[in-house]
Amino acid sequence: MTTPRRDFLKYSASALAGLLVLPASRRGFAQTVTPAASDRNAFPQGVASADPQPDAVLLWSRVEPLAGETDPEAVVQVSRSPEFGELVLEETLTASPDTDHTMRILVRDLEPDTTYYYRFIAADGATSRLGRTWTAPPMDARRPVSIAFFSCQSWPPNEHGAYQRLIRDERASGERGIDLILHLGDYVYGLPADPEESFGPPSLADGETADAPATAAPAGMGMAGMGMGSDGPTDPEDFDLYLAGHRRIYRGYLEDSDLQEARAMYPFVAVWDDHEFGNDVWQSYSGGRSNPKKRTAATQAWFEFVPQILSDSLSVPGVPNEARDYEQPAPLNNAPMRDFGDGFLSMEPNNLAAIHSQTCYRTVRWGAHVDLLVTDNRSYRGPSAHPGYSAQEVESEQSSVNVFSNFSLFDGNLLNTLAQGRDANGGNPPETVVINGETVPNPRRNDPSVSMLGIPQKQWFKDALAASQGTWKVWANAEPVMGFRFDAGRINPEAGTGFLWTDSWDGFPNEREELMRFIRENGIANVVSLSGDRHAHYAGLVAENYEAETPRYVIPDFTCTAVSAFERGPFLERAMGAFGLSHLGMYRRQNADGAEERVCNLNLTMRKGATAAQVMSETNDLEQALAAAVPSPNPHLAYADNDVHGYCVATFDADSCDVTFVSVARPVWDPEIYPEGPPMLRAVGYRVDAWEGGEEPKLVRTFTRGERVFGEP
Ligand SMILES: [Fe+2]
Repeated sequence: MTTPRRDFLKYSASALAGLLVLPASRRGFAQTVTPAASDRNAFPQGVASADPQPDAVLLWSRVEPLAGETDPEAVVQVSRSPEFGELVLEETLTASPDTDHTMRILVRDLEPDTTYYYRFIAADGATSRLGRTWTAPPMDARRPVSIAFFSCQSWPPNEHGAYQRLIRDERASGERGIDLILHLGDYVYGLPADPEESFGPPSLADGETADAPATAAPAGMGMAGMGMGSDGPTDPEDFDLYLAGHRRIYRGYLEDSDLQEARAMYPFVAVWDDHEFGNDVWQSYSGGRSNPKKRTAATQAWFEFVPQILSDSLSVPGVPNEARDYEQPAPLNNAPMRDFGDGFLSMEPNNLAAIHSQTCYRTVRWGAHVDLLVTDNRSYRGPSAHPGYSAQEVESEQSSVNVFSNFSLFDGNLLNTLAQGRDANGGNPPETVVINGETVPNPRRNDPSVSMLGIPQKQWFKDALAASQGTWKVWANAEPVMGFRFDAGRINPEAGTGFLWTDSWDGFPNEREELMRFIRENGIANVVSLSGDRHAHYAGLVAENYEAETPRYVIPDFTCTAVSAFERGPFLERAMGAFGLSHLGMYRRQNADGAEERVCNLNLTMRKGATAAQVMSETNDLEQALAAAVPSPNPHLAYADNDVHGYCVATFDADSCDVTFVSVARPVWDPEIYPEGPPMLRAVGYRVDAWEGGEEPKLVRTFTRGERVFGEP
């Protein structure tokens, strides 16, 4: 081995702080450690790379200790060739139980825009799978940039075939088609013993059973396999149990062959959403209570298993990134949220320590065309404008908000009033508000106005948007920012009409308006949101205020569907069943062969409105349905595909941004049946040409391949 003992000790010390920084050699050299033939899978979670910079990239693996080993050693090798004939790096590492034997290595002094291969070799010679990655191009490189984006991968494994579709198609094309994979969160779905992870039984009005949504990992993967009760951890105060449970979840998910292959073949940029910790998370709050212990444990496990460059991230000139690597805080207590400051940030010290244990919002820069602005939409947000939340309800842990069990639509002006809290109506908030026809005391009358990004991140985001010289400012944004209105009240007044998904930006209309106005007033052009979370493909435009008579559209939003979590159509079918409206989600008809099939009417409900969808389910005739359509509840929504898994690719060039929505078959793929990966159902392209500051972006469909999406002529 080349590393003298002295250096080895120095590296070990820094490894405990979370990151090893290793300079590559400019001149190649021969390896001193060679792999040995071994049947042992010493690196069962594979390898990964993340956040490339022009001269650096982060490499990752986890070594499985042999019986009796506590701090196993492993060698990392980096080469320009997959044969490793000449190396640019060879170092011995120690893997500590403090990081569950995961290793993060920042390799510096690399050549820009260059492909590298890497592998890890355990002390007994057992070798990891081959990793491939590359560095970013120089900052002035004016070449197209392609970002594949994914979200929402749920248990079980062997269902993440969307990755396999991307890998196979790119390999077949014979050229490098993807620069980065952007993962927009819900990398894993929490712990099976969490009450908030239980989605409840299907509730179809006609008593029939819909597909049960995917749930979290089975016994043995999480807390349930650790001798804990079915109602949750037997000791909800035990940080170590939470940490052990979350680590087991990541270890299990990363044994999935498709996810593992994607991580080995492409550099990833990742940000989290809620399910890395719980459901509908804000700050340390999830499932009706505050839990800074679990929040910190979930953060630590994410940091250990989902690699990213935080402290050493590359800033937009003049706007330093605040990103910081995870550091375990002193032991925390689970105190209720209280003392709400600006933006609804709870100043309760345990909450603050938990959410500040890591800072992951940052920029990732890619040549002249793309500055990727990655926001953290969970750590600093307040409770959404859902009327079931108020400071008082949150403090007393009495809030009954559970968007997974209810189908509640809220008027846009109501949400705006609630979101603004005591600042509503110019600081004179109404005493009462009307919620679903009932006049009630305004629950947020004394509360701060709410923020999604939190005040410091919001300022950073605005500054970075204004300072970025990238042709495109690409917002890596876990949740959709465009609005989604439902007019179910046309069919059943009890169901009401308005916005449903208050956990995303529809629950923070005040901040959406503030950000969109900032972009417009400062003449910032070519801002594009790439989002996930919704388990459906959508293309649409973001309005400053959807309640305006003539909404002003400021940026496009492209939402990618789930890798494997439940699809949105069947979910809404269940949720609307309580109002006898399950057919607005999915309805049954006979196909050409006379067999019954369920089709995704939700596409029509969202794009053309409930009336059209109702006629569709009654006549099974799209022409009649479209003729019956009244003004669309979502005229800004160009595309909706609510019944598929898949991913998207966004390509940014000097003049345009092209997004392809790739849909793969559901139910999820079976590698026995489809050894070449799940078949592509359809691919649909949208383009937005670069626009000048102050203009409105325009979305244009560029192509449609494969089976037509339901609801389009
Ligand atoms: Fe999700």
